[in-house]
Amino acid sequence: MKQAAALCFEAFIDGTRRAGVNKAVIGVVGTGLMGVGIATQAALHGHRTIVHDVDPARLASVASKAEAVLDELIDAGRIDDTARQAALARIETHAELSVMASAQFVIEAIPEILELKHRLYAELAGLLSADAILASNTSGFPPDQLVAPLRAKERFVIAHFWNPPHMIPLVEVVPGTATAPEVTGQTAALMSAIGMEPVVLAKAIPGFVGNRLQFAVLREALNIVRSGAATPDVVDRVMKASLGRRWGIVGPLEGADMGGLDTFLDISSHLMPELAKDEDVLDLLREQVDAGRVGLRSGAGFYDWDDAHIAQVKAGRKRVISRG
Ligand SMILES: NC(=O)c1ccc[n+]([C@@H]2O[C@H](COP(=O)([O-])OP(=O)(O)OC[C@H]3O[C@@H](n4cnc5c(N)ncnc54)[C@H](O)[C@@H]3O)[C@@H](O)[C@H]2O)c1
Repeated sequence: MKQAAALCFEAFIDGTRRAGVNKAVIGVVGTGLMGVGIATQAALHGHRTIVHDVDPARLASVASKAEAVLDELIDAGRIDDTARQAALARIETHAELSVMASAQFVIEAIPEILELKHRLYAELAGLLSADAILASNTSGFPPDQLVAPLRAKERFVIAHFWNPPHMIPLVEVVPGTATAPEVTGQTAALMSAIGMEPVVLAKAIPGFVGNRLQFAVLREALNIVRSGAATPDVVDRVMKASLGRRWGIVGPLEGADMGGLDTFLDISSHLMPELAKDEDVLDLLREQVDAGRVGLRSGAGFYDWDDAHIAQVKAGRKRVISRG
C-alpha cells in the first residue's frame, strides 16, 4: 500500500459530527444491488462516494438506481429534494479501479466468489493508501480466508450490510484475527456516521449473527410447511402478527428474560427436541427451484406474486422507512 497523504481517520469521523467538512472519501467496488445501496447511504450522509464496477452497464445504471432509493426516502417523508440532489451529486462513477487510491474507506461488494474477491484484493493492495480501511460486504466468507492476498491484513474488516441499507440499518462489523482493533472501531464509527446501526462481533462465525437467526427460523418454517400443519401463508401471518412485532422492540434474549427464564427453560425442554435439525427440509426449496419457481423474480414461489401482493409489501416498506 502507498504511504498515506490523507488526514487521519478520526478527523474524518469527527468531521462528520461537526461541520460536515473533511468527511472520509468512501469507495465502493461493485455496483450491484448492495453496492448502490451502500453508496447512496454514504452520499446521503455527506461523503464524497466513488464507485467502480467492471461492467460499464452496471456503472451507467448507478444514478438511476440511487435515484430510486432516494425517491423512496422522499416518498416516506425522510428527506427532501435538496438532500436528494446533494446525495446524487456526491456519487462519482469511475471505470478505473485506480480511483480507489483516493478513498479512506473502501468497501467491496462484488459477487460472493472467493477467487474474484482475492483477485480484486491483490489489485487493491497496490493501490490503497496505508491508512485506508478495506472492508468486505461478504455474506459469509470468514475474514481470515478473505484477507489472504493482502499484506496489510490489519487494515481489513468485514462490514456486512443488509438489503436494502436505507431500510435495514444493521451492519455486522466482523474483525479477522489480524484486524487492528482501531480498524474495527473506526469502521463501526463510520457506519454510525452514515446512519447505520453497527454491531461488532468478537469473532467471525459462519453466517455472522443475523443470517444464523434468519436461517434458523427459515429451517423451522420449511419444516412446519412440510409437516402439513400450516400453509406458507399461515406461517407468515403467525410471524408478522407475533414475533415480527415483538422482535422490533425486544430481541429473543430480552424476550426470554421478560417471559421468565424458568418458563422458557420448561418450554424449551419439551419443544426444542421437536424442532427441525437437519437439512432435508431444503427439499422444499429444491422442488420449487427445479420447477423454475424462484419467488418474486420469476413471479412465483411459495406465493403467486401479483400486483396487489407487491403493492402490499411496498406499503409496509414505506411504513417502516417513514419511521426511520
Ligand atoms: N444481495 C443481498 O441481499 C446481499 C446482502 C448482504 C450481503 N451481500 C453480499 O454483497 C456482495 C455483493 O452482492 P450483490 O447482491 O450486490 O451482487 P450483485 O451481483 O448485484 O453485484 C455485484 C457487482 O459486482 C460487479 N463486479 C464483479 N466483479 C467485479 C470486480 N472485479 N470489480 C468491480 N466490480 C465487479 C458486477 O459487475 C456487479 O455489478 C456479495 O458478497 C454478497 O454476498 C448481498
